[in-house]
Amino acid sequence: MKSITITSNLDIYDSFEDIPAEIKELMEAAIEARDKAYAPYSKFHVGAAILLDNSEIITGSNQENASYPSGLCAERTAIYYANAKYPDAIIKTLVISAKSLMHSMITPVPPCGACRQAIAEYEVKQDEPIEMYFMGASGKVVRSESLKNLLPLAFDNTFL
Ligand code: THU
Repeated sequence: MKSITITSNLDIYDSFEDIPAEIKELMEAAIEARDKAYAPYSKFHVGAAILLDNSEIITGSNQENASYPSGLCAERTAIYYANAKYPDAIIKTLVISAKSLMHSMITPVPPCGACRQAIAEYEVKQDEPIEMYFMGASGKVVRSESLKNLLPLAFDNTFL
């Protein structure tokens, strides 16, 4: 038996003010999308914005449903639409902002496991890393140069 250690590297910015200008613009698009979330049940609003290599920005927000599991997270709403609209584009960056209407949200909110799996699919498809930034309503912003830091040992099409 031997043990292995898997490491993840994340960069932490103290606030929105500290992130690069082009990422601020993208995060502003995510915040605008977040504020249009349809989340009457959780009152937890999430917005995602995706920058493609054709310079298009695609946004999405979480869409809830009275039949709870039928809803969809912001990240998957955005990434599925991005690939539906521009199937040949490369996804450069994905940014996320989340805000609860019930309590303050200053902790950076990472994508859920199902969204990580969906993002992994496109990182494998395009064979290029997807840079990610995520934050709460305010506070620190976390950056990862690739989804791999958030989902080591991913299941992908090489197993099929
Ligand atoms: N949600 C997202 O949109 N993205 C995530 O990564 C985590 C959760 C949404 C789903 C649901 O509408 C609400 O947040 C509460 O879970």
